[in-house]
Amino acid sequence: MHFQWYPGHMTKAKRMMQENIKLIDLVIELVDARIPMSSRNPDIDELGKNKARLILLNKSDLAEDKWNDAWAEYFKEKGFSVMKVNSKKGGGVKSIQGVILEACKEKIERDRKRGILNRPIRAMVVGIPNVGKSTFINALAGKACAKTGNKPGVTKGKQWIRLNKNVELLDTPGILWPKFEDQTVGLRLAFIGSIKDEVLQTEELSLEVIKFLLANQPGLLAKHYAMEEDQDTVVCLQRIAESRHCLVRGSELDLEKAAKILVDDFRNGRLGKITLEFPQDYN
Ligand code: G4P
Repeated sequence: MHFQWYPGHMTKAKRMMQENIKLIDLVIELVDARIPMSSRNPDIDELGKNKARLILLNKSDLAEDKWNDAWAEYFKEKGFSVMKVNSKKGGGVKSIQGVILEACKEKIERDRKRGILNRPIRAMVVGIPNVGKSTFINALAGKACAKTGNKPGVTKGKQWIRLNKNVELLDTPGILWPKFEDQTVGLRLAFIGSIKDEVLQTEELSLEVIKFLLANQPGLLAKHYAMEEDQDTVVCLQRIAESRHCLVRGSELDLEKAAKILVDDFRNGRLGKITLEFPQDYN
């Protein structure tokens, strides 16, 4: 019942994308490098069929380098162009022009054979909420880029950002909602903060984070919170509360506060670079 908003938003966003996709040569799909599969929406493959495709592993600064590389290989093998980026700091964004042209080289060649020269590549950025679409567009386009204004056939109000003479970008990203049916997917989206915290108990979520870290990053909690790890997740949370002096009425442990600290540290990379899913589980 929490997700009642989901179908309405999804239909509208999908319609917007269907309207615009016919104007597009290249779909630039942002995924979260920490969960490259769970942060994808499968509808994009249907919407973007027959288009050149570029996957950006965004927030690569928050994921482990070796897994970023492994995921890049994984998607390349599936026929996508791939790039690791950090939109927040601008990492990788500069070299994207070359990657865009490379991703579209078949189309450019087709155009050339038909005598069409210098027609800019048109791209649309898509992705689930919070994956970094706006940050990426801003990093790529900067303030200096003038909008090219409406063009015939473009959905009313849509603007194109001219990046240079070769590439134009639709200024409104396509928002796709993640698929929630799978509990594991939902949980991973919650880990990275893509499902609003109101629908999930922070404490419950923090216990899942602890469970993941105990299994995949043993010793990390101990080191970061100067505490002894325990296989019982509640005990771990209590120890985090003790270590961070999260108290109510001066003496009782405030587990809710400790949970917030942990989830926040995790999401913001203060626990280090952590990848939550791995390519070998998706073959
Ligand atoms: P959206 O349009 O896809 O919904 O996402 P948006 O650009 O609003 O980005 C969502 C959050 O992710 C923002 O943080 C943004 O700064 C952050 N972000 C985007 N790209 C990257 C990246 O490559 N690395 C890291 N570490 N963070 C990234 P916020 O907390 O909402 O805002 P702020 O605190 O950064 O201002």
